Amino acid sequence: MRSHSIAVLPGDGVGPEVTAAALEVLDAAQDAFGFTTERTDVPLGAEHYLRTGELLTPDLVERLRAHDAILFGAIGSPQAPPGVLERGIILALRGAMQQAVNLRPVRLYPGVPTPVAGLTPQRCDLVVVRENTEGSYVAEGSAVHRGTSAWTAVQESVNTWYAVERAVDFAFRLASVRRGRLTLCHKTNVLVEAGALWSAVVEEVGRRYPDVETDYVHVDAMCMHLPVSPERFDVVVTDNLFGDIVTDLGAVLQGGLGVAASGNLHLGGRAPSMFEPVHGSAPDIAGRGWANPAGACLSLAMMLGHLGEGEAAAAVEGATAQVLAELPALAGAGMGASTGELGGRIAAAVAQRPAVENSLMSQLAQVMSP
Ligand code: IPM
Ligand code: MN
Repeated sequence: MRSHSIAVLPGDGVGPEVTAAALEVLDAAQDAFGFTTERTDVPLGAEHYLRTGELLTPDLVERLRAHDAILFGAIGSPQAPPGVLERGIILALRGAMQQAVNLRPVRLYPGVPTPVAGLTPQRCDLVVVRENTEGSYVAEGSAVHRGTSAWTAVQESVNTWYAVERAVDFAFRLASVRRGRLTLCHKTNVLVEAGALWSAVVEEVGRRYPDVETDYVHVDAMCMHLPVSPERFDVVVTDNLFGDIVTDLGAVLQGGLGVAASGNLHLGGRAPSMFEPVHGSAPDIAGRGWANPAGACLSLAMMLGHLGEGEAAAAVEGATAQVLAELPALAGAGMGASTGELGGRIAAAVAQRPAVENSLMSQLAQVMSP
């Protein structure tokens, strides 16, 4: 029987709740599609940090590297100083595992309420490919005269041909199994150096994909087009920081942060990819069963596609979409069921192998493996 080894990193806040729900769905997918998983729990997060002072250690990196994938809940806590856990765990993992792209689908499933008036599922089906290892996220910079009125801070953005090319190439591959349209989103009119490099990479890599049509939008214009005419986008490739920002807007289109899923993909076959819901740890609602497990379940679906379990991936996607469409509200007490109950409902639906039209997860499965 096929078996996959998975590191499970539930983390903080609502992370453990949504991860438990996703694991119940994984159990159901295994039963329905005939594979097994070996799961190792990894205790990283606020509690572990406050007790031991430990973030992502080199030893842990080596232990995680031995797994086929990482299922991630959420990291972040008001108990820890701002940024310590985020940088020391999330960004450290993305870097250590060379997770070259952060794949963030923006898809409105049928029957799911969106705050954008008149938006339909047919018009909202795009994928953002966010460069995931550099840009401003290298967190390099310097400051002088700190704490005085002369305080001066320089924060750098690093863009290498190597990292931009691998993200852009992946985006082209994805576009070629989708609607054949790739949009570069940047700010080339102001960030001229980085912008020129990104544009040149898109032009050069594009020659290898003659069937994919390319297009360009400035990131500010993107924020205007995205809610008004998302149908103009198929695959969007963008810088790390721009990708962070526009995918929160994208999450709103598809029903909110609770629904949005992501995959931090390592593309070289030498380290695990990591799958995480886009919502954070939401400490204000932790422990109440108010978090929507859909983002975690759709991230699980992506993980299954990455592991070569395309049918299971599509079934988890279909089951999550089906249960989402039944909810009176997409988060909080208004959902009418707890995180755990919703996990149970999605798990039960997986066994019926619900079909999903034009399954995103099966498209992703075609390009996610190295
Ligand atoms: C995200 C988050 C992270 C990011 C933070 C927590 C480091 O906002 O995954 O979108 O900026 O990438
Ligand atoms: Mn973010």
